[in-house]
Amino acid sequence: MIKKCLFPAAGYGTRFLPATKSMPKEMMPIVNKPLIEYGVDEALEAGINGMCIVTGRGKNTLMDHFDKNYELEHQISGTNKEVLLDDIRATIDAASFTYIRQKEMKGLGHAILTGRELVGDEAFAVVLADDLCVNKNDGVLSQMVALYKQFRCSIVAVEEVPENETHKYGVISGQEIKDDLFRVDNMVEKPEPGTAPSNLAIIGRYILTPDIFDILEKTEPGKNGEIQITDALLQQAQSGCVLAYKFKGERFDCGSVEGFIEATNYCYQNIYLESDAPLQPQSTVKCG
Ligand code: UTP
Repeated sequence: MIKKCLFPAAGYGTRFLPATKSMPKEMMPIVNKPLIEYGVDEALEAGINGMCIVTGRGKNTLMDHFDKNYELEHQISGTNKEVLLDDIRATIDAASFTYIRQKEMKGLGHAILTGRELVGDEAFAVVLADDLCVNKNDGVLSQMVALYKQFRCSIVAVEEVPENETHKYGVISGQEIKDDLFRVDNMVEKPEPGTAPSNLAIIGRYILTPDIFDILEKTEPGKNGEIQITDALLQQAQSGCVLAYKFKGERFDCGSVEGFIEATNYCYQNIYLESDAPLQPQSTVKCG
């Protein structure tokens, strides 16, 4: 039912400079897999296979990652390293990838509007790949797709954050209509300290109905002079319905150094060491 997932990936990633000076933030690896691949795998797990990526200048390695690398593949063909490409090959085979460039960085809302041509007139998911979400059972997008089937309206994923961190997020308030599900009545982008309508912060997972594009077309620049998806969603909430879902699972803000380190430690312990990944350390290697 939801067939496409939009990945706004044109941002500069300034919080991670100098690493992101010439490398896309979305290509930073958590253990041995780039952030964007975790997002694509989460979408595939939710039954979505059309990946629509909004890129910008200097982001070509994103496209290369989801393509063949004949030289490398020829080089390791027949060696024990070939299995290391199994996962990415399976991802490439299962998904289709389309790309569009955001010409000017005018904010997340503008990046989503740029994706209109790729998405068309249907409901779609949005993944901000620098928010890495993991859950032992259903992924966060799977949980949201199940809710969309039931409610057929835009849904944002939210998480409780400490009060002194609300100024970093879009923050919602609303009525809890069932466990962990709220009907949004207000939404504020990066509220000033002490003015947040709640401690429920929007994280980088959305399901949006296509009327959001017309709203975004008319949305004026808001906070920081950027076109904010939060402003468009508030309008959608006021004229129809937007839900906020307190998802099950862990979320790491990998756009910040602290979140990136936490995600790395978590994924190494809970995913990498638990998997049958080849070339894992079997014993401690003594040097010298
Ligand atoms: P962020 O503000 O978290 O990303 O935007 P950023 O601008 O890359 O990072 P910092 O704050 O400078 O460190 C949220 C998401 O929206 C995308 C980003 O790529 C990120 O996935 N984005 C943001 C765009 O695609 N275009 C924009 O104009 C702005």
